[in-house]
Amino acid sequence: MSQSGNRIGKFVSFYKPYTLLFVADITCALAVSVISLILPLCVRYITQDALGGVTQDLSRGALVMLALISVQTACALFYDYMGHKMGAWMERDMRNELFAHYQKLPFNFFDKNKTGALMSRITHDLLNLAELYHHGPEDLMIYGLRFLGALIILMNINSRLALVVCAFLPVMAAYSLFFQGKMRAAYRNNRERLAELNAQLEDSIGGIRVVKSFANEEREWQKFAGVNEQFFRGRAFIYKREAFYFTGMEYFFAQLITVAVVAAGSLWISRELLDVADLITFLLYVGYLTAPISRIAFVVQQYQDGFAGFNRFMEIMETAPETGYGNGLTNSEAVIQGHVQFVNVSFKYDEGFESPAQNFESPAQNRKNVLEDISLDIKPGESVAIIGHSGVGKTTLCALIPRFYEVNAGMILVDGVDVRSFDLQTLRRHIGVVQQDVYLFAGTVFDNIRYGKPDSDDAEIITAAKKANAHDFIMSLPNGYNSDIGQRGVKLSGGQRQRLSIARVFLKNPPILIFDEATSALDNESERIVHEALTDLAKNRATFIIAHRLSTVRNAGRIIVLTEQGIGEQGTHAELMQRNGLYAHWIETPISAGSGH
Ligand SMILES: Nc1ncnc2c1ncn2[C@@H]1O[C@H](COP(=O)(O)OP(=O)(O)OP(=O)(O)O)[C@@H](O)[C@H]1O
Ligand SMILES: [Mg+2]
Repeated sequence: MSQSGNRIGKFVSFYKPYTLLFVADITCALAVSVISLILPLCVRYITQDALGGVTQDLSRGALVMLALISVQTACALFYDYMGHKMGAWMERDMRNELFAHYQKLPFNFFDKNKTGALMSRITHDLLNLAELYHHGPEDLMIYGLRFLGALIILMNINSRLALVVCAFLPVMAAYSLFFQGKMRAAYRNNRERLAELNAQLEDSIGGIRVVKSFANEEREWQKFAGVNEQFFRGRAFIYKREAFYFTGMEYFFAQLITVAVVAAGSLWISRELLDVADLITFLLYVGYLTAPISRIAFVVQQYQDGFAGFNRFMEIMETAPETGYGNGLTNSEAVIQGHVQFVNVSFKYDEGFESPAQNFESPAQNRKNVLEDISLDIKPGESVAIIGHSGVGKTTLCALIPRFYEVNAGMILVDGVDVRSFDLQTLRRHIGVVQQDVYLFAGTVFDNIRYGKPDSDDAEIITAAKKANAHDFIMSLPNGYNSDIGQRGVKLSGGQRQRLSIARVFLKNPPILIFDEATSALDNESERIVHEALTDLAKNRATFIIAHRLSTVRNAGRIIVLTEQGIGEQGTHAELMQRNGLYAHWIETPISAGSGH
């Protein structure tokens, strides 16, 4: 209950910056409704006069009507334009807020949710909300007022004829609500289908290179066509309901009521129970009574659609962000030396893949710990190489230091302080990560290296690129540092991408470095170049190198062999060779362990 209370509070809060505009908007809507109620009365007044042979007031009446119409037009223009604009503003605010929140959500949130579906929430779902934000109150105002006003006026003019009209209203309302119920489910279904369509699209286009390499275009097309067909069916269903609904309302009922009013009215005119002016007035007002009824379903749907979008918005907003944003030890307090300790650390990945896209079946209910009771002590400036079988948890181990995931037991200390006590961004600013699969952003070489330190100048970037052995290849690109590297850096080779990501970290210059060696085989020359860059980068920092190659491992100050049972062995190359244990075995069969995949 309190949650829904909070949500309503949150819903209303988006009006706040636009309070004045909102009031103006509603006032204009009010003016439009009132004037639209007055106009038929003016018509009645004039026709009665004209029919009675009185003509001197005619031009005055016409002028008054003209003035009213002008005001009405101006007000309608205002609320139509500004109302929509206000809705769009609010939508923009929400979108910004949602995006900011997405950015604060932990890694495991993104493990669970499909990118396409998350995109759908931020684009499509919020569109409906913008409509609701301004049409909701406006429509209530306009249609509610017109309905009540018209009812009162008609009752006063001729209650018998008014009752004729009223007799139809409950039937219309029932018809409207019946279809509204049907359409609600269809709209919800449609929204989910669209999210699926987006997710499928994102997957197929994102993986287009794999698709083509397996010559699986047909397969992808079929997958896509399948979801697309579902989406189409959903829409076709909606259109069917809408067609029944709108034609029923607008053609059948509305015309029927007009016919009834004309028939009964004419009868009563012939018996002199009604005059012609009143009948004309009635015909002008009938729409005011029927329009709100035929709008009910539409308005209710708008509310439901908008609220569904809002609930989807709130679902994300209520997902807890990573803790440690903007609190804990910050930059000024923390001069991180780079002393990293693992104290009895255990970790396993979340197994609950709850909402909203439960596409992932976790095979074992109780997933085994990936890391079990790990203890390590890495001094500032020390360089360790971590080796072990693929999937043993090397990447995971390192992902815990910058708190990409939270430990389940034990703790990780940096300079003797629990990583959970740091401000998250401060902590991460002191840790440089070169990921196993490098991610580069669409843009130029400059843009991508600068990402390591946004305020750096070109000279710094070039220095960093030189240190990463990237300068030469960058200069050979068509536009040098200003060359566009394509989405995710597709226009570069694997080794080049890796060197850019190393340059990025050189620029960042963190006291702690994590280098997750790419398992894809580089040729010897590129490997040597990347390796040189890495050795340079590792100087004087606590460095974790997840290594797959002997050349990388050999020179490390300490080698840690990770096994399913924990740390199997550690020591220098010479020490471990002498021990003739796991490491020596790993050296002998570098293919199985070293190639990674
Ligand atoms: N995001 C994730 N969600 C759930 N399970 C994961 C996730 N990432 C990895 N795992 C699982 O955790 C285990 C350890 O994975 P990790 O990536 O740490 O292995 P690795 O030692 O780095 O292997 P490689 O040498 O192949 O890179 C694997 O069994 C993997 O299935
Ligand atoms: Mg890995």
